[in-house]
Amino acid sequence: MEERLQKKIAASGLCSRRKAEELITAGKVLVNGKIVTEMGIKVSNKDEIMVDGKLINNTDKLYYLLYKPEKVISSTKDEHNRKTVVDLIDCTNEKIYPIGRLDYDTTGIILLTNDGALTDILAHPKNMVPKTYVAKINTILTKDEIYQIKNGIKIDNRKVEVLYFKVRKVNKENRVSTIEITISEGRNHIVKNIFLSLGHKVLKLKRTTYGFLDLSGLKKGEYRSLTIKEVKTLYAYKNNKIKKV
Ligand code: URA
Repeated sequence: MEERLQKKIAASGLCSRRKAEELITAGKVLVNGKIVTEMGIKVSNKDEIMVDGKLINNTDKLYYLLYKPEKVISSTKDEHNRKTVVDLIDCTNEKIYPIGRLDYDTTGIILLTNDGALTDILAHPKNMVPKTYVAKINTILTKDEIYQIKNGIKIDNRKVEVLYFKVRKVNKENRVSTIEITISEGRNHIVKNIFLSLGHKVLKLKRTTYGFLDLSGLKKGEYRSLTIKEVKTLYAYKNNKIKKV
């Protein structure tokens, strides 16, 4: 993916975007060995960027936040040749993997990386990374059903701890509603299964947050690199140092 030079420098954690612009104007930035003083040129991970003598993009670790559209599979390849989340990221030379999965028809936030250590931290249930989902369901929930969900419905004999639950919208005419639910669980189809266990169907599902990250500034199918600060903060989920949504 191409990004503006000053944004890329700032994302490396070296300095602020404004400082990066000053350095570019001052002729302190080289792209592939050539001084660049023009503002806003686009660079990618393949470009070698040197700022004041420091190489900034020499890390082999890649971190992306993707707004997954529907009809995309959350793996690296698919036996039926369907599009994968990796296909949507323009970094062909490096192998990257999604952290966890979203169903084929689920949209929303998903992280991809080649950093196995971070993947292990975020995927481990004990680290309790909260994820928020907005679901359209084919019913209007009763008070008792809401109570059951908040209290933790058992799926395969294990309670799903619900960190937050809210009915956002109710359409009495069509008997559908929109709910928001935050859980730290990563079991497959977990949100759909919560409603299925009450005899209801999820018609549409979107993951709106992953830990402290959300989809701000992105449209479906778009992605961005994580900043160093964001990656460091994600590492802090280890041993549950960050708990709040
Ligand atoms: N729960 C589901 O049911 N599906 C998803 O894609 C994610 C969470």
